[in-house]
Amino acid sequence: MLENIGTEGYMTISKPVAEVALVLDWILADNRSPVVAEIGTGVGATTKTIVEKLDNRGRLLIFDYQDRVDGLTADFRDLGYSNIEPFGNTRLRFDSYNWNLAKLALKARETGPCLDFAFLDGAHTFTVDAPATLVLKELVKPGGYLLLDDLLWTMATSPTMKNIAADLYTSEQMETPHIRMICELFMANDPAFQRVTEGISTSRALYRKKA
Ligand SMILES: C[S@@+](CC[C@H](N)C(=O)[O-])C[C@H]1O[C@@H](n2cnc3c(N)ncnc32)[C@H](O)[C@@H]1O
Repeated sequence: MLENIGTEGYMTISKPVAEVALVLDWILADNRSPVVAEIGTGVGATTKTIVEKLDNRGRLLIFDYQDRVDGLTADFRDLGYSNIEPFGNTRLRFDSYNWNLAKLALKARETGPCLDFAFLDGAHTFTVDAPATLVLKELVKPGGYLLLDDLLWTMATSPTMKNIAADLYTSEQMETPHIRMICELFMANDPAFQRVTEGISTSRALYRKKA
């Protein structure tokens, strides 16, 4: 999977997200073995940053389609990294990483929140990412971080989605940034979370759960 980074067809998902490295540095300053989750791995551009920064300490939980997470786990294992836990789902129409996140959250109700840092960068649609956000809010530990990517992304301006989605969504839904709506609805008014803007670009939103 990693061999796809920088190759034709994968250029838009070949650059690591800088804010992930920044937040990880903040966390690693106090906690050398954090638990991190990347939801939506692409071909592993940002996963690679996380893996290298953790350097076999803590745990990295990755969520995506089964072939993607299995491919990345094997690639990193071959490079000597063994702290990656794959959570794959099928490509059935209504399946998504939500189901694996939901199962994890049910377990966390018994054992407590487990994530120091969650990076949500998956479907970017309300249908998939509204439940993902609600579940991640539970999974993040007090003092932990939740970073949402593509705050301003719309299906109407996406070269890959605009044709596929035209039969599935209204024009209002095509033109509205779903992640921004999710942030307004579930994050901005939640007193348990504080928005962090230092070092974060306008296309992303970072929240810290109050300790
Ligand atoms: C923008 S890419 C992630 C890029 C990656 N975080 C990075 O920084 O390089 C979005 C990812 O979400 C995954 N995704 C989208 N919808 C999904 C679904 N329903 N189930 C599982 N994965 C999904 C895609 O397979 C893709 O790998």
